[in-house]
Amino acid sequence: MSFRPTTRATALCAAITVGALSPLAAQAKTSVGLLLPYSGVFAALGNEIEAGFTVAMEAAGATDQFDIIKEDTEVKPPVGLAKARKLVLEDEVDVIVGVVSSGVLGAMRDFVHDAEVPLLVANAGNDHATGEQCSPYITRVSFSNAQINRPMGDWLAGSGVKTAYIMAADYAAGHQTMAAFKESFTAAGGEIVGEEYTPFRKTKDFGPYLTKAKASGAEAVYVFYAGGEAISFVKQYDSFGLKDQMGLYSGGFLTSPLYVNAEGPAAEGVITALHYMPTLDTPENKAFVDAYTAKYGKGPSEFAVQGYDAAHALLSSQADGETRGAELSAALSRYSANSPRGPISIDPATNNIVQNIYIYETVAGENGLTQRLIDTVENVQDAPNGCVL
Ligand code: PHB
Repeated sequence: MSFRPTTRATALCAAITVGALSPLAAQAKTSVGLLLPYSGVFAALGNEIEAGFTVAMEAAGATDQFDIIKEDTEVKPPVGLAKARKLVLEDEVDVIVGVVSSGVLGAMRDFVHDAEVPLLVANAGNDHATGEQCSPYITRVSFSNAQINRPMGDWLAGSGVKTAYIMAADYAAGHQTMAAFKESFTAAGGEIVGEEYTPFRKTKDFGPYLTKAKASGAEAVYVFYAGGEAISFVKQYDSFGLKDQMGLYSGGFLTSPLYVNAEGPAAEGVITALHYMPTLDTPENKAFVDAYTAKYGKGPSEFAVQGYDAAHALLSSQADGETRGAELSAALSRYSANSPRGPISIDPATNNIVQNIYIYETVAGENGLTQRLIDTVENVQDAPNGCVL
């Protein structure tokens, strides 16, 4: 796997010029545009997805089959779209892997659909991309925003909590996660007593918002924050003295194993839902954790497993002989596996992943913070929500 710019045309030209190459050597590599945030509030997430992708490729001895071209979305929708256009029109990549922000995914959806270039989503949960704006060219191996937060509404109401205050980053993922939580929480008898959306990528001081949350008198606070914002939020929630008064709940990106130890004791006792826990006791997860830890000297997070599964989906499509275009898209959407996160498959009605959702508490462990499983909701699948493939 070489991290350098190339084009399919260049590779073919080179193969023709040296004429004497074996048929296998003459075959062009599959070129992959790795479109991730390498700067900004989600930079650590982008690096972690790439790390998981690399571990899988190396373990499969497949690095020579791919040319990788990396581009930075900067977590900005117009930049993400411009970089997607560059990858497809200039670099002529066969497939784009990545995208962390739902906002970036929303901005580039029409472009990849019209260009008929496969997009393998390795994070961004934007519900529309596998709902009303689904596309045969978009397959998601990560999660959808609703898939993670819907089970939490049921669970929280079932645990006896009657009132919740909502806070989230003011962009697509914040609104979609809260909509899914609200729907299931209220359907199960809970009441939302207030909500606030904080400027995305810009909020450093959550104090004024936390004052309002406290004044709401809710039993629980339910939020969506990820990356750098999650670290600031969890620390400020605790230092504001709220943790002991109002339980804090969220999708698990709030206390991701990627940065939970940067949050420290402030994260203890927070209950969240996610599609992966590094503590899952399965042979697949053990092998993944061992391989990841051996390479990087630290354990993996959900972002790493998303990169890992994206690489495996690509490898399995290659094994089927599909390397580009509609055939590659179709092969990606047939993918299923016993992943480190549990059994996964792609729903043919939406191209979204079907997977278990784990509800867990962040607790102190021997080597820092860890995850204590509370409940597993098996094979969570979204309704088509207007998707026609
Ligand atoms: C999203 O924008 O969809 C998103 C970003 C970061 C996360 C989860 C979801 O950790």
